[in-house]
Amino acid sequence: MSAQQMMKVFVTRRIPQEGMKILQKAGMCNLSVWDSDEPVPRVELLKGVAGAHGILCLLSDKIDTEVLDAAGPNLKVISTLSVGFDHLAIDEIKKRGIRVGYTPDVLTDATAELTVALLLATARRLPEGVEEVKNGGWSTWKPLWLCGYGLSGSTVGVIGLGRIGLAIARRLKPFGVKRLLYTGRQPKPQAQEVDGEYVPLDTLLSECDFVVVSCSLTPDTQNLCDKTFFSKMKKTSIFINTSRGAVVNQEDLFEALSSGQIAAAGLDVTTPEPLPTDHPLLTLKNCVVLPHIGSATYSTRGVMSALTANNLLAGLTGSEMPSELKL
Ligand code: NDP
Ligand code: DGY
Repeated sequence: MSAQQMMKVFVTRRIPQEGMKILQKAGMCNLSVWDSDEPVPRVELLKGVAGAHGILCLLSDKIDTEVLDAAGPNLKVISTLSVGFDHLAIDEIKKRGIRVGYTPDVLTDATAELTVALLLATARRLPEGVEEVKNGGWSTWKPLWLCGYGLSGSTVGVIGLGRIGLAIARRLKPFGVKRLLYTGRQPKPQAQEVDGEYVPLDTLLSECDFVVVSCSLTPDTQNLCDKTFFSKMKKTSIFINTSRGAVVNQEDLFEALSSGQIAAAGLDVTTPEPLPTDHPLLTLKNCVVLPHIGSATYSTRGVMSALTANNLLAGLTGSEMPSELKL
């Protein structure tokens, strides 16, 4: 391919080598990479995308009208290294006829596994226990010390029984969960596999011992978990969120946790990310916060990287993408 025919591609971060190798081997991309583990500053993003045919981005890059304008009319494809696409201005992208690639399915198992780990760590107070061992708080075996909540015989509620929600339910059932409730926009036939009962949100909140949020972030789910939401949960229940931080009103969550309205919360996602180290939620023993590591296994990130690269190349050549977001 001649230098003029090469497609300009801006990659907004250092990504796992699986994807970079695919892009390099294709021999059709003039690659420009923000070669850092830290996010590209906005001004560099706007500069980097100028004239690009393709953008390979991350969930931390807001791809809005300003970025699309900065890229200009060459732009054919945006390929994001994520299944979530709330960082993309979908309406504007669709209007401009730009295709979008994303990474569904390949991260489902890793994210479901992490959600279960977070749920158990929160319910059985693992971070507190580890801390007590280190700081000398462990004096002897005490019948009433560091007790938490178990899954056996419990009722679990999943908000958003999509790919990841179902994978979480599948993993939780063998712990002896008695009832599995779920809510969403409509009942899901695949819920049968986990004996899932479709219920209104209010029923789920009032009946569940564990409430797990795994829906996508949309205008309908933004701020869904607020004061009213928490007020409907049982005082002994555990709240888990591995979807997006903006689904939760964090001030209301802080109030619910510190007042004893709910027992504990485990969050893999927050607003903002990173959560400032002086954030009130981090002062609470009954709140476990992880740094958005749902899909963080070596193999998953490698597969995500390769899929993102292949989506991008298909978008550049106008061929079928392995995982195209239907706009
Ligand atoms: P899916 O699209 O398969 O699932 C999303 C689910 O959300 C669907 O079942 C959808 O229902 C449901 N939903 C949409 N609107 C509502 C609503 N108003 N109330 C309740 N449920 C609703 O996506 P995935 O399962 O693959 O991923 C889900 C999300 O998880 C991603 O969007 C991303 O934000 C997050 N994620 C986080 C990770 C992490 O590292 N913590 C890793 C990967 C993903 P319906 O089908 O009816 O639209
Ligand atoms: C996603 O893919 O949306 C996650 O948040 C990161 O894997």
